[in-house]
Amino acid sequence: MYIITSLPFLLTSFCFSTYISAAAVPGDGAGAAAIDSSASILPLSSDDSYNFQNLVALGTAPYRGSDIAEVLKAASVIVPGDYESFSSAFCALADQTKSAAEDPYNARNPVNVRDTYFAASTYYRNADFYLHGNWSDPRINDYWDKSLDCFEKANAALRIPGVSMQFPASGGENFTIEARYFAVDKPVTGKAPVKRPTIILCNGYDGSQEDMYHNVGVAALERGFNVITYEGPGQPKVRRDQDIGFINNWETTLTPVIDYLMTRDDVDTTKIAYLGFSFGGYLAARAAAFEPRIAALLLDGGVYDVHESFVKQNPPELSSLYEEGNKTAFDAAVANTVEDPNIPTGLRWGVQQGLWSFNIQSPFDFLEYTKEFTLEGITDKIQMPTWIANPEQDQFYQGEPPRVAAALSHATLHNFTGAAGFHVQAGANEQLNRVMFAWLEDTLNTV
Ligand SMILES: *[C@@H]1O[C@H](CO)[C@@H](O)[C@H](O)[C@H]1NC(C)=O
Ligand SMILES: *[C@@H]1O[C@H](CO)[C@@H](O)[C@H](O)[C@H]1NC(C)=O
Ligand SMILES: *[C@@H]1O[C@H](CO)[C@@H](O)[C@H](O)[C@H]1NC(C)=O
Ligand SMILES: *[C@@H]1O[C@H](CO)[C@@H](O)[C@H](O)[C@H]1NC(C)=O
Repeated sequence: MYIITSLPFLLTSFCFSTYISAAAVPGDGAGAAAIDSSASILPLSSDDSYNFQNLVALGTAPYRGSDIAEVLKAASVIVPGDYESFSSAFCALADQTKSAAEDPYNARNPVNVRDTYFAASTYYRNADFYLHGNWSDPRINDYWDKSLDCFEKANAALRIPGVSMQFPASGGENFTIEARYFAVDKPVTGKAPVKRPTIILCNGYDGSQEDMYHNVGVAALERGFNVITYEGPGQPKVRRDQDIGFINNWETTLTPVIDYLMTRDDVDTTKIAYLGFSFGGYLAARAAAFEPRIAALLLDGGVYDVHESFVKQNPPELSSLYEEGNKTAFDAAVANTVEDPNIPTGLRWGVQQGLWSFNIQSPFDFLEYTKEFTLEGITDKIQMPTWIANPEQDQFYQGEPPRVAAALSHATLHNFTGAAGFHVQAGANEQLNRVMFAWLEDTLNTV
């Protein structure tokens, strides 16, 4: 699940404009994008947002995050527009999969344990996905705790389990980074480890580091890259445990992670890559401007200006209210929009997830705050080779990836089309990884 950030406002525009049936892409991108998904694949729901989110879950199947028919079964009982039905379908599937994982017969083999708990973990995250409109809903933490617990049990069954760690933020910021390190090789006593290229994975608006393990992490390990996933403010674990929303100075999350990699004897410190996924595509570019130790930067996709991306999607009514600077009127209009049962699921989700993940109650304050989130003035500091995904159906950030590419001195833009044309190549993770790692291996000269 990944998300795009601009959701609230983009979505809002749908409801007033011609794009009523468009969907918001759940996940890291879920709220925002107006995707006519039915144009390119067999839809998994007539609700575009659910179609996307189901596709995201299904898309982790090649990398052990789900099982195909299980997701299709859940999809079959989800009622379009009905948040509760989405949540309960995935919660039931998660409970059932977790029971299967706990069955002593299943538990005889660590491969079974790994696969069933990883899938249960994904399903609990999906059960939570649409619930962030009510910050007091106990399921937000309950499903999250269950998801993490299942992930840890699966992780413990891996041949080389990932190791969870925390780092204090840099730059005098007052928060703790959550991370998990996955090594390619098992240490052998008395033998110097092989120094490997290493990729840092940064999720986005709604995705988690556990999602990143399936989307890209497994594929990276298979190709001989060590992996470190991590989360900062606004992202699932830090948002819940530390009650802080997104911040713009994202380099305060990255520097401690690189400092840590520098201490490891299995990391080739000249070959550290950094991937930002979905809204992470903005965050990672921002952070990389302050971290020359990154040898290659990957943005899936690129976002130049977060505020502009949001604002230009506003319908005229909301735009003028926003421009007038009347916070009371603007917030009331957005609240009315969200309560309207006829609006697209993705619109409602985008607003609710945006406010929750930024930890801001007022849509007006939220939009004002996003003015900080721009690459303006710092692109000349992003000197490393950079790969940028440009998915043709990513309506929300349409035009942003080429804009980032044009502003950088060493950028390669890759257009994803057809079945891989969704935001973050949902459902086409294998294609994403083939294309992305071909560029990365070439750039770092690792093959
Ligand atoms: C939010 O959830 C809490 C806890 O379940 C509940 O008591 C409250 O009524 C809910 N608020 C709204 C506006 O639904
Ligand atoms: C950091 O945050 C904690 C928890 O919110 C707070 O108690 C503490 O005073 C903060 N420290 C600083 C230096 O701001
Ligand atoms: C802002 O909007 C509210 C609600 O529409 C209205 O009552 C108020 O007069 C407006 N304030 C200004 C300064 O225009
Ligand atoms: C990629 O897409 C952009 C539009 O987003 C277009 O300008 C460019 O020509 C495309 N590149 C290729 C190689 O097709």
